[in-house]
Amino acid sequence: MCGIVGYIGNKQAAPLLLEALEKLEYRGYDSAGLAIIGKEGLSVCKAKGRLRVLFERTEGGAIMPGTAGIGHTRWATHGEPSDVNSHPHLSHSGRVAVVHNGIIENYAELREFLTEHGYEFRSDTDTEIVAQLVDYYYHGYYYHGDPVKAVRQAVALLTGSYALGIAFAEHPEMLIAVRKDSPLILGLGEGETFIASDIPALLKHTREIVRLDERELAVLTRSGVSVYDRFGDPVEKTPEHIAWDVDAAEKGGYAHFMLKEIMEQPAAIRNTISPRIKEGRIDLGLAHITEDVIRSINKIYIVACGSASYVGMTSQYMLSKMLNVPVSVELASEFRYSDPVVDENTLVIVISQSGETLDTLFALREAKRRGAHILSVVNVVGSAIANESEDVLYTWAGLEIAVATTKAYSTQLAVMYLIALHFAQVRGMLTDEALHEAVSALEGLPALVEHMLGKREQMQYLASLFFNLRDIFFIGRNIDYALCLEGSLKLKEISYIHSEAYAAGELKHGTISLIEPGTLVIALCTHAPLREKMVSNIREVKARGAVVIAITDENDASVPAVADHVITLPASAPLVLPSLPLIPLQLFAYYVALLKGCDIDKPRNLAKSVTVE
Ligand code: F6R
Repeated sequence: MCGIVGYIGNKQAAPLLLEALEKLEYRGYDSAGLAIIGKEGLSVCKAKGRLRVLFERTEGGAIMPGTAGIGHTRWATHGEPSDVNSHPHLSHSGRVAVVHNGIIENYAELREFLTEHGYEFRSDTDTEIVAQLVDYYYHGYYYHGDPVKAVRQAVALLTGSYALGIAFAEHPEMLIAVRKDSPLILGLGEGETFIASDIPALLKHTREIVRLDERELAVLTRSGVSVYDRFGDPVEKTPEHIAWDVDAAEKGGYAHFMLKEIMEQPAAIRNTISPRIKEGRIDLGLAHITEDVIRSINKIYIVACGSASYVGMTSQYMLSKMLNVPVSVELASEFRYSDPVVDENTLVIVISQSGETLDTLFALREAKRRGAHILSVVNVVGSAIANESEDVLYTWAGLEIAVATTKAYSTQLAVMYLIALHFAQVRGMLTDEALHEAVSALEGLPALVEHMLGKREQMQYLASLFFNLRDIFFIGRNIDYALCLEGSLKLKEISYIHSEAYAAGELKHGTISLIEPGTLVIALCTHAPLREKMVSNIREVKARGAVVIAITDENDASVPAVADHVITLPASAPLVLPSLPLIPLQLFAYYVALLKGCDIDKPRNLAKSVTVE
């Protein structure tokens, strides 16, 4: 999603903003731009394409002198990617420049209103409306010349979501930031302050940050920031110190963030699990979802998007079996509008790496409004979903930069095991012996994942055999089907190979007509009770000419007897087994994309944190 940066200090703003935008590239974008407040007012430069184009056009920022400005990487929503649709957008008087992340839902109505008042529009975007509306109050019809008041009046009319950075040609001593439903943080330096969508953009300059809360407005000057709530009252904010290693935002010797993050999975899983096992029992440290609440729950919804929803599907089997409670997995974008039946005995588990996915956030609010308990599984500390949940369990995966999730996915799954065990423990559904076995299985998981990473060469070899195919199918049953969905998503999102995941039992109801000689089918056969059924499904596709890569247990002989290539899993407890098959599938997707020359960390059209509906 769009990346916002802003700087006011004593250094040249343009080169610094270009560098900061580079650190937000992982969010996904299709164009970029800068607005700098110089001696002659606001200078703006925008370019469709990669940041490199903007860098060249501005000679690394050198042709835009000035010590205050705003920058943006755009992920198109309204209007195609183009120079003119890129941000920053200038008001027609040239006095106001705006960068925006989010969607202004009532932009058509506001555009009509401003057009009637003589405002001319240059772009097809919803954002331009904000620059014009601020101008309208600041300088136009309602001239009062007060920038803060103008921003407040303008945002009061906006519906939708926004994180905004605003610069005024006549006010080189200030920038304004304001947000609703889209993230925005401020950085505090010595004689300089910053705006950013995310922490990596700031790490080189400061580790002291302030998170803007819903509808807060900040005025940034060289000496600090003043924050106000939506009523205009000052808000005391306590700066947060970011302790991360800058290396977390660097590739550390790997060719891509995705490979680095795949390889970090054993450590990430260990960090997520270890602090929550105390004296042989699961201790989640939940403050509000107490043991009484856990005992009262009679229905669970898991609500998420994309890969996070596949974590939900994978854990659904385990949760309903261990707790004997109906568990339903819902896509956040559907759940929100589905009139869900929830009450005070319903638990909604919300899963999100970024903690900012708008559909997931709005689904959470809907469930909360209807009285459900909300437990979230989130990676980004202090994000909106974390803040608005009753309790949050952080996945301690560390910063995930590659757009395609790997270590966040694995740690989300690990947290779901912990939730299942803790709830089963509280509801008296686990014997001491079963708990002891489960805890040892959890503790042994990082080593099993490490073992799976040892399949790297095999996956590289298999990728070399199949990277030029047009279609690849994944089939599986039960938990394996949920894993197929994630394996298929990983492959298609970064390699652009068309891929589908099917429940293997469904093949004969239509899908099998897609199989032709040479079609690659990846068959997951890790769920032992249904392995023989999978053997039959493999025979069916092979009879139609498919080539089969199968994933199965290392002690199984039935699948290797029918498949062309076999990836084996070490013997492991059923509880943690679902964490293993995805490791080779992530590597397969990575190497296929590498051989195809794809932009692995920043696949086309995709964004890391999806802050629009
Ligand atoms: C795929 C991927 C996405 C996310 C989805 C939800 O690799 O990363 O499908 O899982 O956009 O994002 P979060 O977890 O941030 O809510």
